Amino acid sequence: MNDTVIAGIPDMYEKIKEATHDLEFQMASDVCTGNLLKTLVASKPAGRLLELGTGTGLATAWMLAGMDAKSLLTTVENNELLIEVAKKYIRDSRVEFVLTDGYEWIRNYEGPLFDFIFADAMPGKYDLFDETINLLNSHGYYIIDDMLPQPNWPEGHDERVNLFIKRIEERKDLLVTKLNWSTGIMIIVKK
Ligand SMILES: C[S@@+](CC[C@H](N)C(=O)[O-])C[C@H]1O[C@@H](n2cnc3c(N)ncnc32)[C@H](O)[C@@H]1O
Repeated sequence: MNDTVIAGIPDMYEKIKEATHDLEFQMASDVCTGNLLKTLVASKPAGRLLELGTGTGLATAWMLAGMDAKSLLTTVENNELLIEVAKKYIRDSRVEFVLTDGYEWIRNYEGPLFDFIFADAMPGKYDLFDETINLLNSHGYYIIDDMLPQPNWPEGHDERVNLFIKRIEERKDLLVTKLNWSTGIMIIVKK
C-alpha cells in the first residue's frame, strides 16, 4: 500500500495549492490529512462542521468533498489575505467563511453544536480547548494535526504539545487515537 497515492483530490485543490505557494504560506495542511478529513466527514450526513484556521482553504476543500448536500461547514480565520484565497476558489453554498478572531468566535458562539471539529489554529487547540470541546455533540469528532515535530515549530513548542496530549488523554469523556502518520494526527471522539 502506498498511502501517498491519493484518489479523489478536490477539483480546486491544485489552484489553492499554487496560490498557497505564491503567498509562501508555510502552515498549510498536508494532503494526507485532507484525505483523512474527507473520509471522516463523510460519516456525518447532514452534519454541522467547524474548521478553526481556514488558512487558504486546503482542508476546507477536502472537508467539502466528503460532506453530503445537507451538511454545513463554518470555517474561521483571522487573516484576510489567506481567507480570500479560499473564498476565491471555493464557491459552495454549504460553507460559511468567517473572518474574525478565533478566540472571540469560540467565546461568543451560541449556535447549534457541531458534529465535527477540525481544530487547526491556536484557539480551539492549545487555547480554549475545553470551550471548544463544549461545542462538540456527543459522538462528534475532534481532529488535530501537526502533532509530530514540524519545521515551523517555535522553540519550546514540543513541551506544549506533550502537555496538551496529556490533558486530552486525561479527559474521561474523550476516546483518543494517536496516528504517527502525516504530520501527526489525533482522532478524538466525544462520548
Ligand atoms: C495551520 S494554519 C491552517 C491551515 C489550514 N487549515 C489548511 O488547511 O491549510 C493555522 C491558521 O490559523 C490562523 N489563525 C491563527 N490565529 C488565529 C486566530 N486567533 N483566529 C483565527 N485564525 C487564526 C492562521 O492565520 C492560519 O491560517
